[in-house]
Amino acid sequence: MTPNARSVALEALARIDGGAYANIVLPSILRRSGLDSRDRRLATELVYGTTRMRRACDHLVDRFVRGELEAEVRRVLRLGAYQLAFTDIPDHAAVSATVDEAPRRARGLVNAVLRKVAHLPLGQWPDPATRLSYPDWLVERLGRDLGPADASAALEQMNRRPVVTEREDGYIQDQASQWVAEYVGAAGAHRVADICAAPGGKATAIASAPGRPVVVAADVDPGRAGLIGQNTRRLELPNVVTLVADGTAPPLRPGAFDAVLVDAPCSGLGVLGRRPDARWRLDADGPERLAGLQRRLVAAAAALVAGGGRLYYSVCTVTAAETLGVDAWARENLPGWETLAGPEPAGANVAWRPHGRGWLLLPQDAGTDGMYVLGLRRP
Ligand SMILES: C[S@@+](CC[C@H](N)C(=O)[O-])C[C@H]1O[C@@H](n2cnc3c(N)ncnc32)[C@H](O)[C@@H]1O
Repeated sequence: MTPNARSVALEALARIDGGAYANIVLPSILRRSGLDSRDRRLATELVYGTTRMRRACDHLVDRFVRGELEAEVRRVLRLGAYQLAFTDIPDHAAVSATVDEAPRRARGLVNAVLRKVAHLPLGQWPDPATRLSYPDWLVERLGRDLGPADASAALEQMNRRPVVTEREDGYIQDQASQWVAEYVGAAGAHRVADICAAPGGKATAIASAPGRPVVVAADVDPGRAGLIGQNTRRLELPNVVTLVADGTAPPLRPGAFDAVLVDAPCSGLGVLGRRPDARWRLDADGPERLAGLQRRLVAAAAALVAGGGRLYYSVCTVTAAETLGVDAWARENLPGWETLAGPEPAGANVAWRPHGRGWLLLPQDAGTDGMYVLGLRRP
């Protein structure tokens, strides 16, 4: 049978259920699908949307099924429920086109269930986690860390399609990351170290500043460090020196840098809009585990900063452990370091929120990734 948007979406959803990353598997399936650009867009919307709203879709379907569903049938039902509840596709078209993709033996069941789902009143959910379609722990955690109203707005925002922003040099980079690179604000004669640099988004932005500061861009992962090299070559930035190194013990001279950035590995709770499957992979202990590594990276980075130089810590997450917790640790362990003023306003009338001594941008504030940054000056 010739592929269509729904059959392609189901193939991708099966691969994602099998552990593949949505943003890697979908482009490769689309490339060999032969679909035109309109159907590619529809397939993408169906895969990303069904993956994000998986829990909400299961809730809609489960009241009409008894017993266990085969994985393949479950996927078709999720896909159908997503279209019925969360898209403008007319119900009859959503039902019939989805039933056509069901295994023959299950078409009667899929048809009956989706027709019932189509008649459900929307807006009745047992709890916010089901409505917003996130795991319970994540909703509870953000509720605790940000307060229920901000948490709910952040989670809603990350269910919307993210905006793609391109820098002047063609590099695709979220606006919040661009603001962090601007905040580092390096210039000509500066020597900068970026000790968690791959794939080089912030390092290349910093290195493009007027006067082309020298940037040492290190990452512990050799494969990912290779991406920094590819990007600096493509963007013609010979002033970036790439290094494979563990940032907790960097092979760099202490006190040698005017600015050091730790764009640390983190739980990524600020970028769930961009990674639709991430919410189902994350584990509840991630933030605490990562906070330990983040503190070690900040300690090592601090040693590299020259007297009067600046240290920046950033993460694309919003948990208290990885933001306020790391700041509290730095306050205790880096005595005498002065707090820097915050980043420039994030667009018209959107200010970064003071958060401990650092600055937080929630996804709903400016429609970007959620991001935290702390800037300190060495005495
Ligand atoms: C948030 S990403 C960095 C993104 C990058 N700064 C950019 O803007 O494109 C975090 C990076 O830290 C790296 N990393 C993890 N543990 C590390 C360690 N101990 N030392 C150095 N890098 C590490 C990961 O491989 C990953 O590439």
